[in-house]
Amino acid sequence: MFINELRLSESEGGLDGLWYKLNQALNLLDFSFMNILITGAGSGIGEGIATGLAEQGHRLFVTDYRLDAAQAVADAINQAGGQALAMALDVTDPEAIEHVPDWVAAQGHGPIDVLINNAGLQHVAPLEDFDMDHWSHLVDVMLNGVARLTRALLPSMREQDFGRIINIGSIHSLVASPYKSAYVAAKHGLMGFSKVMALETASSDITINTVCPTYVRTPLVDQQIAAQAKAHGLSEDEVVETIMLKPMPKKVFITFEELTGICAFLLSPAARNITGQAIVVDGGWTVT
Ligand SMILES: NC(=O)c1ccc[n+]([C@@H]2O[C@H](COP(=O)([O-])OP(=O)(O)OC[C@H]3O[C@@H](n4cnc5c(N)ncnc54)[C@H](O)[C@@H]3O)[C@@H](O)[C@H]2O)c1
Repeated sequence: MFINELRLSESEGGLDGLWYKLNQALNLLDFSFMNILITGAGSGIGEGIATGLAEQGHRLFVTDYRLDAAQAVADAINQAGGQALAMALDVTDPEAIEHVPDWVAAQGHGPIDVLINNAGLQHVAPLEDFDMDHWSHLVDVMLNGVARLTRALLPSMREQDFGRIINIGSIHSLVASPYKSAYVAAKHGLMGFSKVMALETASSDITINTVCPTYVRTPLVDQQIAAQAKAHGLSEDEVVETIMLKPMPKKVFITFEELTGICAFLLSPAARNITGQAIVVDGGWTVT
């Protein structure tokens, strides 16, 4: 409560950075401040989680294949009093990924304690019309890229006997929708990959889990809403109500704050034996 009161007074009084500094001080005291690398953090969920975890005092390595977008997010975090570095990282580029540990070390702040595999994209088409290069690209970003980066960062996690790997999966890691074959295949694959990695890392204090949300209002989803409105001759509000949120009993979009809170929980000591799991954030979709 004390911290919430301070947070309120910061926003009311405009005491820039007080919230960040206080959390950094508290986290330094209990040694729980972490180096967190997140992919695809130039927009949407990645940006939201990076900003939220920076507020909690962690140092963020904000990466995206669009450097300008990653830099803008890192700048905003730093301007608010947090700690962030930006890096161009295309998760489909094996050579770039191999250099990540060296780049982190060169910044003088390594090693990475937490990897959040978030980069992603969507393409909707029946399989017969799905361009197969595009199909492979989706899988490369959302599955092969995850394996590549995890592989690159595991040695230093093993060396320090600590690591937390969080994949941003999807409700589509568990259920299917038509016309999303590449996305659903990649997101389901993420679950199998995580289960294997949970076994391969079980002898050390490393966990890997997959957060599986339903829809979050981001550019990725806004594009889908616009496309569906055009395809079905509906307004965007009608698409949201009659298509997008229909399978979800709670009928709400998941927020960045919820996803940040779940990541923070997975970083906490309480979650040290949660590994290889899907953390399903679906407003009841999969219980219907
Ligand atoms: N928005 C949702 O409703 C929703 C729901 C469930 C899961 N997800 C997942 O959340 C993640 C983020 O999605 P979002 O909705 O924030 O989308 P977004 O389009 O806002 O952000 C995706 C980010 O990934 C980056 N990216 C794309 N290809 C990349 C590559 N090759 N290398 C590095 N970065 C790359 C983009 O530049 C962009 O900044 C994705 O994995 C997505 O599947 C989203």
